[in-house]
This record gives sequence, C-alpha cells and structure tokens, in this order.
Amino acid sequence: MKEAAVKVIVATPVAAETERWQGIMQAALPEFEVIAWRPGMPDTQARYAIVWSPPDEVFRNQPGLRAVFNLGAGVDGIMKLPSLTADTPVYRLQDAGMAGQMAEYVIHSIAELSRGFEIYRRRQKEAAWSPLPAVRHAEWPVGIMGLGKLGSHVAQSVAAMGYPVAGWARSPREDQSIETFHGDGQLEAFLARTRVLVNLLPLTAETAGIINAALIAKLKPHAVLINIARGGHVVDADVLAALDSGQLQSAVLDVFNDEPLPQDHPYWRHPRVRITPHVAAVTLEDQAVQQITEGIRLLERGQQAPGLVARDTGY
Ligand code: NAP
Ligand code: GLV
Repeated sequence: MKEAAVKVIVATPVAAETERWQGIMQAALPEFEVIAWRPGMPDTQARYAIVWSPPDEVFRNQPGLRAVFNLGAGVDGIMKLPSLTADTPVYRLQDAGMAGQMAEYVIHSIAELSRGFEIYRRRQKEAAWSPLPAVRHAEWPVGIMGLGKLGSHVAQSVAAMGYPVAGWARSPREDQSIETFHGDGQLEAFLARTRVLVNLLPLTAETAGIINAALIAKLKPHAVLINIARGGHVVDADVLAALDSGQLQSAVLDVFNDEPLPQDHPYWRHPRVRITPHVAAVTLEDQAVQQITEGIRLLERGQQAPGLVARDTGY
C-alpha cells in the first residue's frame, strides 16, 4: 500500500495569502501534501508548519508539528504565541535576499538626509541653481544595532561608502571589519559615537522598548533614527519628543507598534519623519521557498536545518 504523504500546513493572518503560499509550496514540495490552514480547522496531523504571524489557534490545534518554518527573518510573531510548545523547533529565513535591500534602504536614507537631496527637489520647483556645501562622512558616524545576517551586511555596505561605522551586538563580534561594541556595558560608548542610529535588532523581551528617551539622549546631537527592525523597539512618545526638542534631526521609520500605522498617528504629518510601510526588505519568494523546502527535506532525512531559533534568547 502506498504511504500517505507527509502533511505541511501553511498559515498567515490573511486567507488569500495563505492560499497563495499553499500553491507555491505545494508546487515546490510535490511529494508532500500542503494544506492551507483556516480558522477552526481541526488537527490535520501536519508534521511541518510554514507560517507568517499566525494566530495562536494554529499551534493549539496542530499538536503533531515537528517544526515551524517562518516566512521571514523576525520570529517575534511566533515566539509570543502561548501554544507554541518549548520543544517545537522554529526556523527562520536567513538573509534570503533581504540584506541587500536593507543596505539600499539605509544608504538611500543616509545619503538623502546628509546630502540634502530633498532640498534640491524643493529648489528644482523654483528653478533655483543653489549648491549646498560638501558633506564630510566623518560628520555622519553610523551605528548599527544588531550585527546579524542583515545588520552585518548593512554595516559593511555603509562602511564601503566611506562613513565611519560601528555595530552593537549581544556578544563580542570579532568577525566584523568594523568597530564593534557589545552588551549593556558597552551600549553607552556605542551611542556616544553615533549620529545615525540604524536598528536591526530582533524584537525580544530584552530589546522591546530599547529606543526610548534615555537611549536617544546618549546619541550625538541632531541624530537620525532609522528603524527597520520592529515598531516594538520604539517608545513613540519619546521619539516624537526628541524630534520636537531637536535631539533627533529626523526619523526614518519602516515599522510601527501598530501596523498599518493608524491614519491619525502624529508620525504621518511630522515634517521630519519619513515613513515606508514595512517594506525595507521584502521576503523574496524564490529564496524563501528554497530555504524552507531545503530545511524540510533536511529534517526528513534526520539532518539539521539552518536558521534554528535559540529558545533561550528568542532569535
Ligand atoms: P539575526 O541574524 O538574528 O541578528 C540579530 C542581531 O541582534 C545579532 O547580532 C544579535 O547579537 C543582536 N542582538 C540580539 N539581541 C540583542 C541584545 N539584547 N543586545 C544587543 N544585541 C542583540 O537577525 P537578522 O536576520 O539580521 O534580522 C534582524 C531583524 O530585522 C529581524 O528580527 C526583524 O525584526 C527585522 N526585519 C525587518 C524587515 C523589514 O522589512 N523592516 C525585514 C526583515 C527583518 P549576537 O550577534 O551577539 O547574537
Ligand atoms: C520582515 O519583517 C521579516 O522579519 O522578515
């Protein structure tokens, strides 16, 4: 008798997205049965789940899961779910085409602010030929919080443009070509040399709310915040107060405590806030499919898959 195919469920918060990923994953995993999860679905006996920000119900009703694969880099949307058991391994995407996009986003933001490209666009409307003074990179030291798959690539890319770059991580990072700081003990020194603060930390119990009044006050004056990690890292009232006091010159924000950002949020209309809708780096489908299908096939062969999230640190 033919053996039943191993089952994989796909779950996202949006039914149409779940259906779309089910089709993509079924085509990439023809020897498996890939099922689109829906609310109220009983146990499907799935061995693997492929998810993005799934409802808690997914894990509550699928007790046989041997592993969960995240359709993104950040796993905060999974690790917070009470029904995810401590012994279910969670795998995340590593880079998957996102590091290059992050580097582009950060270089674009720094260049736009430091070179005054917005000013030139305004002057163009008046046909005004009016050069600004030359920019010295030394006046724009960049500090990257988080030197993981994304942060370390951004750090190298920005350093290659000639900016002074340093990074801050949880553990000592001797593998980097930039100046590095680590742990709570070195945070202050890292902030004191930083004018452009780029956040690429994972959202965990340790990092939630880390970008607050006390942290911003330790940056160089007229600092710029580029938050491309998670909204939960930021205390919004403190960022707005620092923009109003001038301690923050500008904030470039891609991620928010509430997404979509509510229409009446003061960020939308603040003249020194630049907003993008959580697109700093978008999951590239082909690379996500390749990493996840390879991971599932490795586990099926009893081997280890890359991208395992450490349960003690949550990233
Ligand atoms: P990663 O490879 O896991 O790297 C995380 C980095 O943060 C590591 O360097 C780690 O230090 C450091 N870190 C963690 N906790 C820390 C703490 N308490 N103090 C100091 N440093 C700490 O993560 P990644 O793949 O680069 O992704 C980073 C984040 O980007 C994701 O979690 C996600 O939230 C966000 N993201 C956003 C978008 C977007 O479009 N906006 C897209 C993709 C990802 P160690 O090196 O010592 O471990
Ligand atoms: C996107 O935000 C991701 O974590 O991949």
